[in-house]
Amino acid sequence: MPLWYGGDYNPEQWPEVVWAEDVALMRRAGVTLVTVGVFAWSRLEPSEGRHTFGWLDRVLDLLADGGIRVDLAVPTASPPPWFSLAHPDALTVTRDGVRLTHGSRDTYCVSAPAYRAASLRITRALGERYRDHPALAMWHVHNEYGTPCHCDHAAAAFRTWLRERYGGLDALNDAWTTAFWGQHYSDWAQITPPRATQYLPNPAQALDFRRFVSDEMLAHFREQRDLLRELTPEVPVTTNYVLAGWASIDHWKWSREVDLVAVDHYPSGRGTAAAEQTAFAADLARSWANGRPWLLMEQATGYVTGPRMTAKEPGEIARHSLQHVARGAKGVMFFQWRASLGGAEQWHPGMVPHTGPDSRVFREVCALGEALKRIPPDEPADEPLVEAEVAILWDEEAWWAVQAPGLPSAELDCLAAVEQAHRVLWRQGVTTCFAHPSHDLSAYRAVLVPSLYLISDEAARGLGTYVRGGGTLVVSFFSGIADEHTRIRPGGYPGALREILGVRVEEFRPLADAVTLTDFGVATAWSEVVHLDGAEAVARYPGGGPAVTRRRLGEGTAWYVSTRLGDSGYAGVLARAGLAGSGAPGVEIVRRRDRVFALNHTQDEQPVPVHGTDLISGEPLTGVLNPGQCVVVRAT
Ligand code: GLA
Repeated sequence: MPLWYGGDYNPEQWPEVVWAEDVALMRRAGVTLVTVGVFAWSRLEPSEGRHTFGWLDRVLDLLADGGIRVDLAVPTASPPPWFSLAHPDALTVTRDGVRLTHGSRDTYCVSAPAYRAASLRITRALGERYRDHPALAMWHVHNEYGTPCHCDHAAAAFRTWLRERYGGLDALNDAWTTAFWGQHYSDWAQITPPRATQYLPNPAQALDFRRFVSDEMLAHFREQRDLLRELTPEVPVTTNYVLAGWASIDHWKWSREVDLVAVDHYPSGRGTAAAEQTAFAADLARSWANGRPWLLMEQATGYVTGPRMTAKEPGEIARHSLQHVARGAKGVMFFQWRASLGGAEQWHPGMVPHTGPDSRVFREVCALGEALKRIPPDEPADEPLVEAEVAILWDEEAWWAVQAPGLPSAELDCLAAVEQAHRVLWRQGVTTCFAHPSHDLSAYRAVLVPSLYLISDEAARGLGTYVRGGGTLVVSFFSGIADEHTRIRPGGYPGALREILGVRVEEFRPLADAVTLTDFGVATAWSEVVHLDGAEAVARYPGGGPAVTRRRLGEGTAWYVSTRLGDSGYAGVLARAGLAGSGAPGVEIVRRRDRVFALNHTQDEQPVPVHGTDLISGEPLTGVLNPGQCVVVRAT
């Protein structure tokens, strides 16, 4: 199947005369798929039970006539004002006890019975009405699930979830270490979500609440999905994950439930940093999709996060899109088709900007549509879309646990550590993927473990088996410290990994000032008092203590980096561990099955070891990419 191309289309903002122009422009741009109706609930059901589908009928008919397929949304992310007024108990309550009011979006409690019932009603109404519409290609449930609520409905659902997890209060009291600070619970009714409290919250309670919120939102998703599957068994059902500095859901778990992994990505960096973030997001998405194709559901034609909203540089719209395709996307979509004139996101760039189609942005949008058409579809095959020799461990639960207050340093940052691992390899042209600690890792040459604070006994055993079997493991500080209940493993850090690494860490010594190691340059933020217990020191702190260690174990090697290194220092460790790539910085070469993508993110000409005819331009390659140039060739 050809690559999908399009974006969110919110025609309810525009008079009908604009719709015909929209479809004509979409055809000019090569658009094949649009997401319709994500926030349209109040237009589809202006009062309880009264549906106004006429406008949506006309939109879908127009799109179908234009040959454009629809990813039809279930609009539960934005309940109508009448719903909030009729059911104030279904409005979000923050941890501070503030009940929010409607006026934005995502203001609901996913545990509120009225919200759950209304969600199913609008989903059924849409499903029944459009099940046979020729434009329908996919269902898009909700939007970027991510609203936690702390109200009494949420509290009741949290207790039910806890009962299922722990069975009895004794197990919960033990897991949460409620013996400390007199938190012992003698009745389930005493347990609440982690609402605002006087001082530090209980970390195990906070972590379980995040797990619960993810599961509770998943239950909401599954209800809509199951209903839609019943009505349209052939139509895939998905939802769009948000990828940012926070994650509200356990993506591994969710990815087993969606028919297609779909992600939204808005880089906060600029230039090469944006390209690094794009590759990171795409590799995460492909990993969640278990190596299969996934969909970039949203990106923007400009930068919308970071220091300020700015235009993307000429060529970046296509380059970022092709990065996603190279790394497994089965289509690239934008938010949104036409930039809004009013409303909360009136300054969010569109595929058709405020200026209109006579604009650089729209011309680039059309050029991208043309380029995507020229990239041939994947041949059906068993092997993964993109081969990766190195896996980086990623687990939202460990990240959530590091986001809790009260840790030994405020500088501990799981996401930053994972991003560094990916970035350093990306810069050297090493293609990576992500894996959950519980996965079978035996296929990877190397596994990187950046600040994986929590790890289960079983996953730790798996890492030992991996190393003994010949793998290279590179563990960074603040990994393996705690069990799944955030309880510290005693006897020396890094508890669960001590034996594999052959070290025993006696103390943490967060650093106020940078120090220079005997090798790998400068270390910041964090240091440890490391005792060797089977490992050898590869680099030492100024005082002589081991900072980076290596242990041969069975057929493999386990490295430990006990401090925060800069990118070049970390790259040095990886090189010593046999993970040096041969890529040039800013030049991205990725093989997707039988096609090779070569992208020059730099401002200079770059030599590339890629030969053949560029499928996009039809021109033969000369061994050099121009600044910003992107090519796709058949692998030889
Ligand atoms: C998210 C949402 C969209 C839009 C964009 C841009 O990805 O899903 O509805 O708000 O951000 O801000």
